[in-house]
Amino acid sequence: MGRVSEDASDLIAADIGAYLKQHETKSLLRFITCGSVDDGKSTLIGRLLYDSKMVFEDQLAALEADSARGGTQGAGLDFSLLVDGLSAEREQGITIDVAYRFFSTDRRKFIVADTPGHEQYTRNMVTGASTADVAILLIDARRGVLTQTRRHSYLASLIGIRSVILAINKMDLVDYSRDVYERILNDYRAFARGLDIAHIEPIPMSALLGENVTRPSTTMPWYEGPDLLTYLEEVEISTRPVEAPFRMPVQWVNRPNSDFRGFSGFVAAGTVQPGDAVKIMPSGRQSHIARVILDGDLPYATAGQSITLTLADEVDCSRGDVISSVEAPAEVSDQFETTIVWMNDTPMLPGRSYLLKLGTKTVTASVTALKHKVNVNTLEQVAARQLNLNEIGLCNISLSEPVVFDAYTTSRDLGGFILIDRFTNETVAAGMIHFALRRAQNIHWQAVDITRAARATQKAQSACVLWFTGLSGSGKSTIANLVEKRLFALGKHSTLLDGDNVRHGLNRDLGFTDTDRVENIRRVGELARLMADAGLIVLVSFISPFRSERRMARDLLPPGEFLEVFVDTPLELAEARDPKGLYKKARRGEIKHFTGISSPYEPPEAPEIHIDTRRTSSEEAADLIMRALEERGVLGGAPG
Ligand code: ADX
Repeated sequence: MGRVSEDASDLIAADIGAYLKQHETKSLLRFITCGSVDDGKSTLIGRLLYDSKMVFEDQLAALEADSARGGTQGAGLDFSLLVDGLSAEREQGITIDVAYRFFSTDRRKFIVADTPGHEQYTRNMVTGASTADVAILLIDARRGVLTQTRRHSYLASLIGIRSVILAINKMDLVDYSRDVYERILNDYRAFARGLDIAHIEPIPMSALLGENVTRPSTTMPWYEGPDLLTYLEEVEISTRPVEAPFRMPVQWVNRPNSDFRGFSGFVAAGTVQPGDAVKIMPSGRQSHIARVILDGDLPYATAGQSITLTLADEVDCSRGDVISSVEAPAEVSDQFETTIVWMNDTPMLPGRSYLLKLGTKTVTASVTALKHKVNVNTLEQVAARQLNLNEIGLCNISLSEPVVFDAYTTSRDLGGFILIDRFTNETVAAGMIHFALRRAQNIHWQAVDITRAARATQKAQSACVLWFTGLSGSGKSTIANLVEKRLFALGKHSTLLDGDNVRHGLNRDLGFTDTDRVENIRRVGELARLMADAGLIVLVSFISPFRSERRMARDLLPPGEFLEVFVDTPLELAEARDPKGLYKKARRGEIKHFTGISSPYEPPEAPEIHIDTRRTSSEEAADLIMRALEERGVLGGAPG
């Protein structure tokens, strides 16, 4: 029994392998359908799949399970081509609701991403559309161009789809009227002028009756264009730009032995052949291509191929670098204007730091300015201080180090990026680079001769930041004050940054919304860094309720110089003490966003020093901290 079923599954795999081989030469078109069930979307997809007779979804499901278990060799490259849209999103950890269907005709293979029209539409559509060549926009002929049509068109154009099929459906319900068709088309054209859509192909149809779907219509003699399937079979696929300057982001360095050093990756644009002069970006170092390899040596390779290159010289080149043409190398910058599509329930807060992944490179990034968000229904620009789930904003972003890029309009590969939450590892946004901000090129680090170590040594101490975090009224400032008095008595140079005080000056413009708190901590983190650079022992006493920003402050300093002190006082106790009477006010609703009551506090997970104020007095806490400083050598050659 076991044998038989094994044979059967082998057979299926072999069948599909053979099927794919046989169709290997066929091109692949990826498209997305937008519209709601009411517009006849499922009927349309059903008809395309059914009439094309080549549905092999079940087998594909089996194959998918196989490859999850470790791979079905027989199916080879083509198979991975079919599912790469899927696995990419799984790797990125996005929960999406996009159904991919595969079908083929004698002339072409197709992958259709079907995105449901409910409220998660933005995230679904952006993921569904990110690899699509063409979008089918469904319109109910009785209802014409709706808000939803405009929204879907905007998203499609944002993601870089330049070719739209306007499927004007349910023509049977408007008596196949040419007038109705033309009115809708004119409406749509007027709207689409504001978008970056190069080609609109209108097709009047009745999905229900099959008119103009997989066969020409008999009922609309006034329409002279192709039916939908014919158009899908013939439309030109905007493949990766072979004509464009050469770009290959290095995925990994292939070094099986000391004689061979190859750089493997996916050619994002252009062509390459042995002898070509290339620049390794971002360093800009120059070399020549020695060999182009895929199984064996190739005379050349073009955009869309995964290859290995070897170089004529021993230049530095590693993962994340981009091998570029010499004439028009990819650009390098660390600040950009971008459009960001937010895909997470936790809002985007300017100033918060995220991981940014562009090509094969991952760096940290934050939004330095949210210029406006876009109302996707009206295309209006709306002022905003944060981006919520499914919102789209024009943002300036700043990176921890320069990356190699192209504008998104030139290259989806080198102009598109994702943002990842540093704690949950979830993909929280997709983004598109418009251009680099000039100032990135104009500001340089000023080298100084007196180093932070020299400054600290002069003071017989080593610089460090003691970061006190805890609820309002937890005792942070009291303990910090005691510690500072002891440091002073030892002749140490310190300074104390206290939330209440800094908010009177430097941060006078900030309130207590999440966005303001992020900025509050960002500024004080930078300030603490500058003061540590001056060789000081810096005590920071801020509620600093979010893990993310405490982490950001930590990352500004060399390892070991940031000591997080969690002043752990339960809410009940802080509220009972209520030294400033603020909890009472907050309970009465007179203070909005009050930490612990109407705004969250995220306790540290691994603070260097944990003080439980129920068991430890302020004096004992100060002793504890002084001991920790001593153990870490912060107090240097302390007298006494
Ligand atoms: S933080 O959350 O942004 O780090 P910060 O430490 O600067 O806060 O300021 C907290 C102090 O501001 C509190 O100790 C309290 O005196 C005062 N305060 C006023 N409004 C609030 C509020 N809504 N939430 C917390 N603290 C507040």
